[in-house]
Amino acid sequence: MAIKIAPSILSADFSCLGDSVKQAIEAGADAIHVDVMDGHFVPNMTAGPLLVASLSPICQAANIPIDVHLMVKKPERLIPEFARAGANILTVHVETCPHLQRTIHQIKSEGVKASVTLNPATPLVMIEEILPDVDQVLIMSVNPGFGGQAFLPGSLERISKLHHMLIERELIGVDIEVDGGIVLENIDQVAQAGATILVIGSAIFNTQATIANNLAALRNAVKNY
Ligand code: DX5
Ligand code: ZN
Repeated sequence: MAIKIAPSILSADFSCLGDSVKQAIEAGADAIHVDVMDGHFVPNMTAGPLLVASLSPICQAANIPIDVHLMVKKPERLIPEFARAGANILTVHVETCPHLQRTIHQIKSEGVKASVTLNPATPLVMIEEILPDVDQVLIMSVNPGFGGQAFLPGSLERISKLHHMLIERELIGVDIEVDGGIVLENIDQVAQAGATILVIGSAIFNTQATIANNLAALRNAVKNY
């Protein structure tokens, strides 16, 4: 199956967010990635379930999933509300979930795909036991909190290590999403390491070129995956 691209709206112009999301969908986005930040787990604040609810009709009309990345403390408090708002995939950080297995099953019980992620300095072994229970693992390739940061080179090894962990366990249906610092210059390496979904913010929304041109160039760079 072809590699997927999920534009992260963190770098979009929030004064015309609906239009930007429509443009990304028309240009062939495979999902819309929404970053939720609480100012505690990460040093930045963004939006909550209300924003997801506003974008949901646009994404639903195009049959495009909303991929919500929860960078918040105690994410379990917010899971039902994000599910009601229209999230199709919910990602929680292992660093915020002392009862990770319970939280993953809480997400699934809401009828939402469950995804787990970890910060660049958190060892992959922290998610080893939960792999059979998740639909997706998100590898953070920057420290979470801001768009436009540089890709951490050690992430490539983490992606390929996870890829092999999944093969060893016959869990090839689990997606490997990669988030942070993906640009035209490194997208090929990220795909080659084993990513199946690429989250891209600033290289789509924050350049001189149009959203459609950026997405087309990025997709062209990974057309063989
Ligand atoms: C960072 C966010 C990312 C971010 C990616 O904490 O999780 O989704 O928006 O943006 P770029 O592609 O600019 O690194
Ligand atoms: Zn994200």
